[in-house]
Amino acid sequence: MYFAVPRERIEGERRVALVPDGVRALVGLGHKVGIQADAGTASGATDDDYAAAGADVVAAAEDLFGRADAVVKVRAPAGEESSLLRSGVVLVALLAPLAAPDLAERLAGQGIMAFSLDAVPRIARAQSMDVLSSMSNVGGYRAALAGAVQCGRFFPLMMTAAGTIPPAKVLIVGAGVAGLQAIATDRRLGAVVQAFDTREATRQQVESLGASFLTLPLPAGVAEEAGGYARRLASEEEALERELLADPVRQADVVITTALVPGGHAPVLITAEMVAAMHPGAVIVDMAAEAGGNTALTVPGQQAVVNGVIIDGTLNWPSEMPQASSRLFSRNVVTFLRHLLDSGLADGTVAESTDEIVRGTLITHGGSVVHGATLERLARHAGGD
Ligand code: NAI
Repeated sequence: MYFAVPRERIEGERRVALVPDGVRALVGLGHKVGIQADAGTASGATDDDYAAAGADVVAAAEDLFGRADAVVKVRAPAGEESSLLRSGVVLVALLAPLAAPDLAERLAGQGIMAFSLDAVPRIARAQSMDVLSSMSNVGGYRAALAGAVQCGRFFPLMMTAAGTIPPAKVLIVGAGVAGLQAIATDRRLGAVVQAFDTREATRQQVESLGASFLTLPLPAGVAEEAGGYARRLASEEEALERELLADPVRQADVVITTALVPGGHAPVLITAEMVAAMHPGAVIVDMAAEAGGNTALTVPGQQAVVNGVIIDGTLNWPSEMPQASSRLFSRNVVTFLRHLLDSGLADGTVAESTDEIVRGTLITHGGSVVHGATLERLARHAGGD
């Protein structure tokens, strides 16, 4: 097959879907890979590196898309790029079908067989294809560093001739993949870390990283849904959580929030009043900014300063570390493509596969949206929900 990797067009996106090692892997399997000129520059790979790995370096997107059997991207196609996708082509990218079900409908209308990398099921067998986990890992690390740099004080306990300086206090809200990596990073830097998650299962993970876990008296298991994801708390439960967090937030030098519930607005856990009680110079890094934010005052994509408290609403933390994130993304993608190839990608029979990973990620095929959760979302939209 001919796999085409275009240059990402969304402003600020510095990742690339395949690094030269990924090209080498696919070429080694007997496939062809075309890469758009300059696609890897922002993530540290030159056109010469790609050519040496066996890729066809193509200047114009039109030519590249014209040759493709499959287009492999980081972000969903946007603007005129969508019109370059030919009917019958395979598309593999982060399509966020639950947040953007209308895109799925458009792709179906164009006759594209689309697979969404953010829909890889959270099962042991699929871990090596799990782009969301890889990106959350990079993001959690990078956001922890951003908090440390912006807060203007030492993280570790410092004994100096000018006196002893106590370690920084960090609070992490949401201990999924990103939150756990942020805890690990902040602990390595020497901060005192507290964390909270509604899923009781995270307590042990948090404690094993040397952080303390805040306890909210919710009945065991109620905060968890099938698949290990959190469910949205009822409004009175969320109010209890805000009460629990009030003191730790007030005392924190850095707060990193990562709390998400699948497909919906992020829960607002830090109110304007809670920010007002923080000390000037404290930092909130709101990793949930893309989903609206865990802090009432977060401005997605911007840095706000309220009463001297910095509220960092940066979107796309993984793109801030494009070499690391592209490398992991590429490895996940190659493993995913190998799985699709083994399931009949080349002759189109993949669409009939009953495999959980294929079924979970196949969003459109044969002119229709075929992904259950996306169809439910579209039906709810049509019903005005
Ligand atoms: P996520 O990015 O969807 O959410 C981040 C965290 O926010 C979660 O830990 C969630 O429990 C928490 N959260 C939601 N509402 C909250 C609230 N009101 N207050 C505090 N925290 C709140 O989660 P992520 O990182 O994608 O992980 C989701 C699940 O998938 C986890 O159980 C994780 O262990 C599991 N997982 C399984 C994998 C596998 O088996 N292949 C791979 C990666 C993750």
